[in-house]
Amino acid sequence: MLDEALREIRRRKWERIVDFTGAGVSADSGIPTFRGAGGLWRNFRSEDLATPEAFARDPALVWQWYEWRRGLVRNADPNAAHRAIASLERAIVITQNVDALHARAGSRNIIELHGNLFRVRCTRERTTQDALDAFHELPPRCDCGALLRPDVVWFGEMLPEGALETAAQAISSADLLLVIGTSGVVYPAAGLVSLHRGLSIEINPQPSNVCTYAIAATAAEATPKIVEALQ
Ligand code: OAD
Repeated sequence: MLDEALREIRRRKWERIVDFTGAGVSADSGIPTFRGAGGLWRNFRSEDLATPEAFARDPALVWQWYEWRRGLVRNADPNAAHRAIASLERAIVITQNVDALHARAGSRNIIELHGNLFRVRCTRERTTQDALDAFHELPPRCDCGALLRPDVVWFGEMLPEGALETAAQAISSADLLLVIGTSGVVYPAAGLVSLHRGLSIEINPQPSNVCTYAIAATAAEATPKIVEALQ
């Protein structure tokens, strides 16, 4: 499949490229995915940790989990897939990931559908601020005294304003879509792929076969090859 996809890519020049990524793109950086072997939702209950109700019930517990994940990501580096994606400067990156590894690899045009682990939001004022370093006390508070929360999307919450619309526009007008490392089961993000008409390529050791070509390989193995053919 990889060779066929590479041949197809080399047949013409692709102008409007979208990379749609999920947790699998960061798996080769040592960041656990959510589903599958070793996935976070195998060991933790999402309803205890990633819902507004869980935060209202026990903000310190939710924050402990986020501080653990923030620490994992802080100590990780972007991998060959993130770097290859960043080298394709004309591409738009639409990611479900909150780990900011695409930005650290140098991608500039990124739509973060599910927020960012390294940003916090005041639960009263709704203002956001960057928060790169670990907090000394959990749960952290805003200067106004209210609780801060991670600026991420929890189950049952809306996506950031405009993000879905901008992503839908980019995907429907793309001539090439790369779908990398996502199980495609979490909506509304997962529904975006069906808006695309044209060549699409999935990179995933366990592909869901929603694309023209499915490459059963890890993101770090296959993405640089695809991107090289696009350069
Ligand atoms: P999942 O954990 O659901 O899926 C990860 C996908 O990555 C699976 O299809 C794996 O087969 C694949 N995968 C594993 N290792 C890989 C590798 N080395 N290279 C490429 N692919 C690999 O993650 P997402 O699809 O991102 O939402 O999950 C979607 C959303 O569900 C997340 O954004 C998060 C989660 O609950 C929220 O927190 C709102």
